[in-house]
Amino acid sequence: MKTIIEPFKIKSVEPIRFSTREEREIVLERGHYNLFLVPADDVLIDLLTDSGTSAMSAAQWAGMMQGDESYAGARSFFRFEAKVRELTGFRHIIPTHQGRAAERILFSLVGGEGKIIPNNTHFDTTRANAEFSGAEAVDLPTREGLEPELIADFKGNMDTAALQGLIAKAGKENIPVCIMTVTNNSGGGQPVSMENIRTTAGICRSNGIPFFLDACRFAENAYFIKKRERGYRDLPMKTIVREMFSYADGATMSAKKDALVNMGGFLALNDDALAARARNLLIMTEGFPTYGGLAGRDLEAIAQGLDEVLDEHYLHYRIRSVEYLGERLVAAGVPILRPPGGHAVYLNARKFLPHVPPHQFPGQSLVVELYRTGGIRSVEIGSVMFGRNDTRGAFVPARMELVRLAIPRRVYTQSHIDYVVEVVLECFGKKDSMKGYRIVDEPPALRHFTAKFAPLE
Ligand code: F0G
Repeated sequence: MKTIIEPFKIKSVEPIRFSTREEREIVLERGHYNLFLVPADDVLIDLLTDSGTSAMSAAQWAGMMQGDESYAGARSFFRFEAKVRELTGFRHIIPTHQGRAAERILFSLVGGEGKIIPNNTHFDTTRANAEFSGAEAVDLPTREGLEPELIADFKGNMDTAALQGLIAKAGKENIPVCIMTVTNNSGGGQPVSMENIRTTAGICRSNGIPFFLDACRFAENAYFIKKRERGYRDLPMKTIVREMFSYADGATMSAKKDALVNMGGFLALNDDALAARARNLLIMTEGFPTYGGLAGRDLEAIAQGLDEVLDEHYLHYRIRSVEYLGERLVAAGVPILRPPGGHAVYLNARKFLPHVPPHQFPGQSLVVELYRTGGIRSVEIGSVMFGRNDTRGAFVPARMELVRLAIPRRVYTQSHIDYVVEVVLECFGKKDSMKGYRIVDEPPALRHFTAKFAPLE
């Protein structure tokens, strides 16, 4: 088989600013060892997120010039609406400025005190929005989804037996919506099978519980279904995507991922009454229902991006380039969550740094060292993000201590990725000298964004 090449030529480039280790040491101190507090200009390879960081195509940029900026009834809205409806089949398509705006609207309408919202695994903003409404957010990953080393096809699945147990215990009247995140981001970018989507939807339907997809990475998930699930190999991407959405009553979407744009999102649903209430909230906080916090040009770019993301050459390159990074790290003995996810490789910091206990944040230690050594920015998905103190003040660690290397779409080439491999291996070589961190200051919620850290001696 020949090398899988980037399925694009580069027309416009953005220079990378190089820095020395000494410069980065100062940057780290100034940023209190939190990479969210580091200016992007001081980063060489930015793997903080795949969200909003895609390179747009020539056709998307051309679409930007054709954006209709009318307040009401813009042509760009109708193009966006038609494309989203073609893929999802939902009746009501409500644009929002990003995914969490759609979540906030949905949860403020259906959430609230005493409500329980299950998900295969909530993303952090999804959990925060559910909890902010007063509801309880419950993660129901499968057992295999929690085994970092285990290789399985669909580790993103929902534990459907656990879902049934939860419904029996909590009462279906207290579960206003059940969400399936595709791919399962906090669970390692792992895909969910069509069978699991179908089964979960069936359980929800028989209990009268609306079933929604958190669809940020729907195309990557659909590609895994095509490659790994029986019966889908010969189907066009669009058919697989339409089947995924056909089981759901609605979806929230961050267009910043699989719509290949820098900003945007939507809430899509079939329930007329709920849609009317959502639009009323939208008008108050996001904008009129035909732009919802976005410019007309953004809606054009999303419509175009939703076409491009389903190109099989693109998806083949996309999934393979992430897998390539994972394969090279595994070959060198670096512990990662396996198999590699669709949008990211997750280093297993607990195994990488077995001498740093969870309450000293091994993931944070690794994030800092990747930056110090090679200017790479990654993100901790472990006890900084999900750990907490219980009511008696005792530390409760996260289920896993991971460091995510998220790959922006169409941005970096193979040599960038080779450089990333070299830096990770250099860190792996000096892992025994790496130390833990303590938090010196943290906000009441979503602490990973702004917490300040200090290295432990
Ligand atoms: N749901 C999932 C599964 C996500 O990964 C994200 C964002 C959101 C919802 C929220 O969307 O950012 O447009 O408001 N994930 C980004 C990440 C930030 O880095 O994984 P948003």
